[in-house]
Amino acid sequence: MDRLEATIERVGPDRVPFVLITIINNSGGGQPVSMANIRATSRLLKRYGIPLVFDACRFAEHCFFSKEREPGYADVPVREIARLLFSPGDGCLMSAKKDGLVNIGGFLSVNDERWAQAIT
Ligand SMILES: Cc1ncc(COP(=O)(O)O)c(C=O)c1O
Repeated sequence: MDRLEATIERVGPDRVPFVLITIINNSGGGQPVSMANIRATSRLLKRYGIPLVFDACRFAEHCFFSKEREPGYADVPVREIARLLFSPGDGCLMSAKKDGLVNIGGFLSVNDERWAQAIT
């Protein structure tokens, strides 16, 4: 959090169009970002008015791992963990070859009408 905030302060919030969290990153050993870290990031970004976007690859795996490992989630259904995970997001993108189980393709979803208009 400290390094993220320091970076935002250094470059200026106006020069950070969004922050992307890869919720499970292979180069990080395939470990899930904690729900606590996601909440803290969301709070920080809200203070600066910076949108939060998720790379949602392996989201089902993420939610299952959170249930198994993160204190406070053992009794929360995986579907509800997914809702809690995505609710602070302004958008997400996903290579649906992962948990989506398709051969090829993915999607980008945004929760902001201006972004939606700019993309189409
Ligand atoms: C977290 C994550 N995001 C994006 C990608 C890119 O997926 P694709 O190769 O389908 O574009 C991958 C690929 O493994 C990934 O693990």
